Amino acid sequence: MKRLTVAFAIYGFLGAWLLLTGVACPLRAQSNPPVQSKAPEYAGSESCKTCHEQVYKSWENGPHWKQTLKEGGIAKHGCEDCHGAGAAHVADPADTSTLFLFGKASAKDINARCETCHASGTQHLKAINSLHRQADVSCISCHSSHHAEGREFLLARPQPQLCVTCHQAQKAQFEMPFHHRVNEGLINCTDCHNPHGTVKPHQVRTSAQQDAICFKCHADKQGPFVFEHDPVKTEGCQSCHVPHGGPNPHMLRLSTVNLLCLQCHTNSTFSAAPSAPSFHNQTTQFQACTLCHTNIHGSNFDPFFFK
Ligand code: HEC
Ligand code: HEC
Ligand code: HEC
Ligand code: HEC
Ligand code: HEC
Ligand code: HEC
Ligand code: HEC
Ligand code: HEC
Ligand code: HEC
Ligand code: HEC
Repeated sequence: MKRLTVAFAIYGFLGAWLLLTGVACPLRAQSNPPVQSKAPEYAGSESCKTCHEQVYKSWENGPHWKQTLKEGGIAKHGCEDCHGAGAAHVADPADTSTLFLFGKASAKDINARCETCHASGTQHLKAINSLHRQADVSCISCHSSHHAEGREFLLARPQPQLCVTCHQAQKAQFEMPFHHRVNEGLINCTDCHNPHGTVKPHQVRTSAQQDAICFKCHADKQGPFVFEHDPVKTEGCQSCHVPHGGPNPHMLRLSTVNLLCLQCHTNSTFSAAPSAPSFHNQTTQFQACTLCHTNIHGSNFDPFFFK
């Protein structure tokens, strides 16, 4: 919260300076070089209310009212903290030239606008690996200041619709026979992904302890075990499972367990895994590997994961 306040102060000052010196409006500055353009004037949120009552209500009921007015955040300018000084617009409603219009601005400008206050923390879209920022998905693709209808975090739509309107392919994966129940609303995309970016590939979250996110819900697979199965810790769950959903039971990568195991447990010099012993002839008895090697994620009693 302290950092946010500092960000307010710095950006607020910077913004005022830019406006005062006319840097934000190079064209006007050019036609009137010697005279410094006057700082646009604020009208106050009450005056906006007279014409934009619905919008005013949405703001009053949301988190930004408390922050930008009641508790005196940034400069206590309310509507005008986001939309810019509006006195000229109040005097002549057709004049929107001093306003910041979210509907017309580029993704980069919108992100920058929101980040005048939200420049630190998890919501910082500059976070490493934010494919959303790189693909020009802006804050308001997911958040809505005035049409969130009371949803938590001002989300523009409820989850998972929010995500699957753009990610149709993933929606389909969650419709496969074996899947995490995301479409059903049991868990959310954001349980595993941080939409603002992470240090991991594919914007995958880590747990609070910086471990694989899967352990947050599947703690029994974490151990520590006396006998670890190497790939669980090294290559991660995805070496054997798909994370979203697929055609195979237990969301396994391959349709039969033995093929999955034998990907690594072959007579190959490239594999750190020992080949299955020779008495494991490929008769049906030995095809269902996990009938004998039951504790495939690790065991405290048996090096071969029998129990
Ligand atoms: C006297 C009535 C009136 C007042 C007061 C008023 N507005 Fe407006 N506002 C309008 C009208 C009418 C439009 C549509 C203008 C147009 O599109 O030409 C508009 C448009 C806007 C838009 C652009 C909407 C869009 O679709 O992009 C914003 C943002 C806005 N107003 C914000 C404000 C803010 C902030 C205040 C207070 C500082 C304010 N208005 C005060 C009447 C008003
Ligand atoms: C936190 C920043 C923020 C604040 C504070 C804010 N707005 Fe907005 N405003 C937006 C964004 C973002 C949009 C684009 C539509 C959306 O996301 O809901 C918008 C859209 C609008 C529009 C276009 C019409 C519409 O419904 O989309 C008007 C008019 C408007 N705002 C007026 C106001 C007024 C009046 C206030 C104060 C009562 C205000 N805004 C406070 C960010 C803000
Ligand atoms: C791809 C969708 C998406 C985009 C783009 C996005 N957000 Fe979010 N944001 C979310 C979701 C979903 C949540 C709900 C919390 C969660 O599950 O991570 C959230 C939560 C938040 C929160 C509250 C929780 C927290 O982490 O502090 C803030 C503040 C926030 N976002 C601000 C922003 C800002 C500012 C931007 C633009 C720079 C932005 N978001 C861009 C989807 C998005
Ligand atoms: C004038 C500063 C300011 C601006 C500009 C601003 N915000 Fe905020 N916003 C805040 C503050 C302060 C909070 C409350 C943070 C907290 O409680 O920790 C907040 C809260 C939020 C939350 C979290 C709501 C919740 O339910 O927890 C979201 C999401 C958010 N803002 C998105 C945005 C988006 C998107 C924009 C740009 C359209 C934006 N904000 C512009 C100051 C601002
Ligand atoms: C159970 C955790 C989990 C859930 C829930 C989840 N994901 Fe993922 N997602 C992952 C992991 C882990 C990866 C990385 C896969 C890899 O490394 O091969 C990933 C990868 C992705 C990718 C990259 C392309 C791909 O398909 O591999 C996209 C896009 C994606 N997820 C979107 C979504 C969306 C949208 C939702 C919700 C509808 C969602 N995810 C829900 C864990 C999850
Ligand atoms: C407005 C459209 C849009 C929305 C809404 C959206 N995304 Fe994205 N998302 C994209 C685009 C575009 C990319 C970058 C291109 C790509 O990889 O598909 C992306 C990338 C991603 C990636 C990384 C994919 C990879 O290949 O590594 C993940 C994960 C992801 N989104 C998850 C989410 C989640 C979770 C939500 C909901 C909170 C969400 N997205 C909402 C458009 C969107
Ligand atoms: C070496 C391959 C492999 C790795 C790595 C792996 N699993 Fe599995 N997992 C399996 C197999 C095979 C099954 C099916 C067991 C059976 O047939 O009884 C399974 C079953 C499961 C099940 C359902 C049955 C149960 O035991 O609860 C869950 C949940 C699961 N795995 C989660 C995980 C998680 C979380 C990770 C990462 C920490 C992970 N798995 C890593 C091979 C693996
Ligand atoms: C937010 C909690 C949560 C997270 C995070 C999570 N899971 Fe799950 N997982 C579940 C739940 C709940 C089920 C039970 C599925 C059901 O019945 O819908 C499940 C089921 C599974 C199953 C199938 C179990 C079976 O019996 O067939 C596998 C495999 C699995 N998860 C692997 C993973 C992997 C891999 C990750 C990390 C990428 C992960 N999970 C992250 C909650 C989670
Ligand atoms: C991604 C590669 C990979 C997959 C897939 C895999 N394993 Fe392993 N497995 C390993 C590695 C690496 C070791 C550790 C070898 C070591 O520690 O010397 C190991 C160890 C073992 C051991 C203990 C061997 C010993 O001598 O300690 C058994 C038993 C085993 N795996 C069975 C299985 C079964 C059954 C499956 C299929 C369900 C499977 N593995 C899937 C890589 C894999
Ligand atoms: C009928 C029970 C049974 C089935 C089914 C079975 N195994 Fe085994 N597995 C064993 C026994 C017994 C051992 C030897 C334990 C010992 O040496 O004490 C073993 C040992 C192993 C070892 C360790 C080899 C070493 O040199 O360390 C691997 C790897 C292995 N099995 C993989 C597999 C794979 C892959 C499958 C499926 C294709 C499979 N097992 C199916 C019973 C089984």
